[in-house]
Amino acid sequence: MDPIFITIRNVHAIFGREVLSVLIVAAAFYLAFTYRPNAPRSPVARIFPVLIDIQATLGLIYWLVGIFTGISYFLSFPFILHPFLGLVTAVVTHLLFGARNPFARLNRWAGPAASAVVLVLVLSNAMIAIMA
Ligand code: HEM
Ligand code: HEM
Repeated sequence: MDPIFITIRNVHAIFGREVLSVLIVAAAFYLAFTYRPNAPRSPVARIFPVLIDIQATLGLIYWLVGIFTGISYFLSFPFILHPFLGLVTAVVTHLLFGARNPFARLNRWAGPAASAVVLVLVLSNAMIAIMA
């Protein structure tokens, strides 16, 4: 496989294991501490879901290349749960950090609550990739 795709895999793996989990916890604290009622959406709440989008896109690229180069377990259970949960995580993160998010009535704790859900999804998905 072309080295560029190995690099994409490594970036996706390090971002998905080490970087994202730290960023999610940092976002939870930042959103709680900087909360103001009726303030416009925080830049952190706008940018954070896009980081999950980029993570999902890197995974998608490597997954597709892997399928075409014949990595057969990419399409079989249990690994197949990983692409599925990863795409679900991207969509859910946009919902939970969006303007009409279901946690809005939690006010200051909406950010930490959304972050907690996303942290569980990201760590679960990393576990699937590491173990499958
Ligand atoms: C929130 C989203 C995601 C997270 C947190 C995540 C996390 C990870 C991690 C941590 C690894 C490395 C596992 C290891 O250490 O061996 C990995 C590998 C991988 N991920 Fe993701 N991922 C996500 C989304 C996706 C998506 C959407 C796809 C595909 C559509 C995908 C495809 C892959 C593939 C193909 C590998 C390589 C597996 C291998 O080489 O055995 N990921 N992912
Ligand atoms: C697997 C790939 C991706 C998925 C599943 C995905 C999913 C989503 C979803 C569900 C939304 C919310 C749309 C809405 O609010 O109506 C969104 C918004 C957005 N996405 Fe993605 N996306 C992906 C890839 C990307 C990539 C590669 C980028 C750019 C590098 C990107 C940048 C954005 C931006 C800038 C927004 C608007 C954010 C906001 O203002 O709330 N996405 N994406």
